[in-house]
Amino acid sequence: MQDIIQLHDRRFKVMIPAQDIDHAVEAVAARLNADYAERETPIFLGVLNGAFMFLSDLMKKIEFNNEISFVKLASYVGTASTGEIHQLIGLNNSIEGRHIIIVEDIVDTGESIAHMLESLEALKPASVEVCTLFFKPNSYNKPFEIRYKAMEIGNEFIVGYGLDYDQLGRNLKDIYVVTE
Ligand code: IMP
Ligand code: MG
Repeated sequence: MQDIIQLHDRRFKVMIPAQDIDHAVEAVAARLNADYAERETPIFLGVLNGAFMFLSDLMKKIEFNNEISFVKLASYVGTASTGEIHQLIGLNNSIEGRHIIIVEDIVDTGESIAHMLESLEALKPASVEVCTLFFKPNSYNKPFEIRYKAMEIGNEFIVGYGLDYDQLGRNLKDIYVVTE
């Protein structure tokens, strides 16, 4: 493990070692295993790109039958009247009547998860919960309760384990925090 790394113009130092991440993933997987044991085949929806590593480690600890799919939230500017448009892309399963678990790398202000929930609700799922590796409680300002949070952090900017700084750092097995 390298203590200080450089990504683009910034330096980062280790904040959470891989072993601690693994324990947090284990704990959140145990909660899911208890809560979903009796439900009809839930669908995990991994949000690309950031959630790929968390989803992969999480799934190895899940004991109930499930389906896995990946989605991406694309934003683009529509007409003046429609403003910014958020589109959920990559869904190929039918969501209607299904139990959905959205898997995110990090929930910060909650803006992106709110758009995702809005798009999913229109597809009439039986239930929707969010499972995120990181949660920033001081920043989150939405009413939807995020039920599964593996770890809570302050407002610091982190990279590694799927999270990026301008696309770099996703491969790191530990979590790094920006210095100064
Ligand atoms: P939101 O503010 O909850 O909509 O977060 C939107 C997105 O910002 C997340 O999905 C991440 O891609 C990114 N993000 C927020 N905080 C961090 C961080 O500390 N490191 C890397 N990406 C972050
Ligand atoms: Mg993300």
